[in-house]
Amino acid sequence: THVVTEACIRCKYTDCVDVCPVDCFREGPNFLTIDPDECIDCAVCIPECPVNAILPEEDVPADQQKFIAINAELAKAWPSITKRKPALPDADEWKDRTGKLDQLIR
Ligand code: F3S
Repeated sequence: THVVTEACIRCKYTDCVDVCPVDCFREGPNFLTIDPDECIDCAVCIPECPVNAILPEEDVPADQQKFIAINAELAKAWPSITKRKPALPDADEWKDRTGKLDQLIR
């Protein structure tokens, strides 16, 4: 599967959802997740994300490993998103920040 990592938090640019052929993105208040049961590893979403938040599971770095379980868990709770929408209003302010996990709204 592919995994949405920390960079998405408080940004949610949503460029990724327009290209997904299997509609595997799920939307929370300030983050998206990929449903690992739907993702076919096509990788077309990777270059679409302006903050490089999406990675193949095998390339997720050590400090982002917890996002593998977070994607799987929240994908079951959140609704599908299949069309791009405006990014969060302060996305550009948050896009270069790290240590954002405590900002994730479930
Ligand atoms: Fe998030 Fe990047 Fe998609 S910021 S909503 S993973 S385009």
